[in-house]
Amino acid sequence: MGGEFLQTGREIVPIPGSYALVEKVAEGFGRFLELVQPDQRERWTYEVLPNEDPDHKPDDGYMPRKGDAKVSGGRDDIKQTFHYRPRLIKLLQSRNVDCSLVRDWLETCAELHELCVAHASDFVRWLDAHFPGYNFTGRFHDPRSRDANVLRILRYAERGPGDSLTVGKYHVDRNFFTFALGESHPGLRIFPEGESGAPIAYRATPDNVLAFPGAKFAILTAGRIAGLGHDVVNENPAAPPRWSVVFFAHVTLE
Ligand SMILES: [Fe+2]
Repeated sequence: MGGEFLQTGREIVPIPGSYALVEKVAEGFGRFLELVQPDQRERWTYEVLPNEDPDHKPDDGYMPRKGDAKVSGGRDDIKQTFHYRPRLIKLLQSRNVDCSLVRDWLETCAELHELCVAHASDFVRWLDAHFPGYNFTGRFHDPRSRDANVLRILRYAERGPGDSLTVGKYHVDRNFFTFALGESHPGLRIFPEGESGAPIAYRATPDNVLAFPGAKFAILTAGRIAGLGHDVVNENPAAPPRWSVVFFAHVTLE
């Protein structure tokens, strides 16, 4: 683990047992959208501003994106997302939200989040051993970054052939590193040479997770490891709406 990541800025990390959880987590989000009516979903949304990143307001719980910007000839980013952090269950309790109908789904989210933290923990230990001087492990286990690690479940809107290209515009993730855990069908493209370089279409396989650095990795290493740019395209307009599940690992920069 790790060698490939340091050389190429990405790596396939095997996480045995992850895909079964990923499928259950995606399925459970579908159930959430069926069972919790749109006017009730805002009770499941929390905006939290962490100390270390004043420009970024991450959300816990449910969050839709309407996609009003046009990118590359297509509508951008129409998707429903759900952010799971362990603190979410307490937040929901504090707001008296009835979680009973999706309790098993939240438990599966917790299980997958824990599995990701365990593998991320191995990953930072490996990085410290082979790319010393940054205290990745200490920064990752700092309580402030521990609370920021998030599991994100995305359901893109159904797109037709007339809306064929970009469904998620090009960006570099803002976190430390990302595990792309699984997806219903391909669509993710990575840009190892940056936005003007040629994209590579990514093909996920079960229990193999794509690990890649985000903006915080670049900041921390003064650019020695750059964040990997990526976008999402509607590769097969006839396919049902795409879903994907992603884990964002954080570190403190202080
Ligand atoms: Fe991303």
